[in-house]
Amino acid sequence: MDAVDVVIRQKLHSDVVLVRQVAEYIIGAGGKRMRPALVLASARACGYQGNHHHTLAAVIEFIHTATLLHDDVVDDSTLRRGAKTANAVYGNAASVLVGDFLYSRAFQMMLSVPGDRVTHVLADATNIIAEGEVLQLMNCHNADLSIEDYLHVVHFKTAKLFEAASQLGALVANVDEEIETGLKNYGKHLGTAFQIIDDVLDYSGDESQTGKHLGDDLAEGKTTLPLIHVMQYGSSNHADTVRTAIESGSRDDFAAVLAAVHSCDALPASRALGESEALAAKQSLNPVPESIFKKTLIEFADFAVLRRH
Ligand code: IPE
Ligand code: IPE
Ligand code: MG
Ligand code: MG
Repeated sequence: MDAVDVVIRQKLHSDVVLVRQVAEYIIGAGGKRMRPALVLASARACGYQGNHHHTLAAVIEFIHTATLLHDDVVDDSTLRRGAKTANAVYGNAASVLVGDFLYSRAFQMMLSVPGDRVTHVLADATNIIAEGEVLQLMNCHNADLSIEDYLHVVHFKTAKLFEAASQLGALVANVDEEIETGLKNYGKHLGTAFQIIDDVLDYSGDESQTGKHLGDDLAEGKTTLPLIHVMQYGSSNHADTVRTAIESGSRDDFAAVLAAVHSCDALPASRALGESEALAAKQSLNPVPESIFKKTLIEFADFAVLRRH
């Protein structure tokens, strides 16, 4: 991870001052660096001995960071990684444009890694993330969203990058198809668990730990899993409260929605789906030979569910 950090620092450089300021602002705020760690652990679990995985890990973190810059504009969020969001400090225009810088820098960097399939995986993942964010935008204020539609957005906007990260480890190591598919499926399930828990934390997290404001999802009228649960299993009063809040999309109803969420155990029920995805992630690792790196991948699946930040 130290080697990845060196690549990140070096490739962040631009002669344009505002690019440097905004990029360093968000990257300097930290983040868990889970996706780059996934690239490294996956490559080493496949026996990889070279150093292209450092570049790919940095590429994945740049793509992730670009999505965060854009996402915070779209979600009108003001807190990320325990600090003001880049859009809150530098404005929407700077955030969107520096997000574009990071995306395109990531594409410049990936060209140094041999193998057409690496570029294919990253190009497809980036495109699908964009589709996922747009799909979610179209679903805003739709209180009738099904669990299938919700999971479709989760797969596109979040799980796809986890899937690409773990598949890239297999690709640089040139392992056989069974192991590559196992790692790819692992990433998909891990990313799904990760986002489901993120949606639970939006109603129950501790802001000093998540570094993000609670209630951001409701403020944008987002029909996430806990709310779908209330509308399916809550009393008709509670379901009405949630429906009205989604349709109006405001933070004002947060306390009433929270009461509705707790009234029918929507958070533990949502967590249970996250846990089953984490289990599916671990099971997907069956074709991968035992090693300390595989153990790390298994621990990531547990972390995705148990995390508080
Ligand atoms: C945030 O991802 C975006 C989601 C997919 C929920 P992370 O929680 O991995 O963000 P950082 O990089 O650690 O800040
Ligand atoms: C996460 O979106 C997915 C992407 C950034 C593409 P969210 O809006 O659910 O995540 P947070 O809560 O802002 O991190
Ligand atoms: Mg957001
Ligand atoms: Mg969002």
